Amino acid sequence: MTERLRVHVDPDKCQGHARCKALAPELFELDEYGNAHEARDGTVPPGLEDKAWLAKSNCPEIAIDVIEE
Ligand code: F3S
Repeated sequence: MTERLRVHVDPDKCQGHARCKALAPELFELDEYGNAHEARDGTVPPGLEDKAWLAKSNCPEIAIDVIEE
């Protein structure tokens, strides 16, 4: 059984590098300042788990958490 994943962006850490949006556009939205927020409630749709981990590991500010539920 695959666990469900959820992504969360820490707004205090995000500096708008936007790598998350480039790597996983389905999982992140950028606001008018260019800072990222998780799309919807952050739940990672099936099949996009790898993108969630990729975004986390590529954020220079370590602003992304991937939560296993
Ligand atoms: Fe912010 Fe990191 Fe994405 S700094 S815009 S969460 S790559």
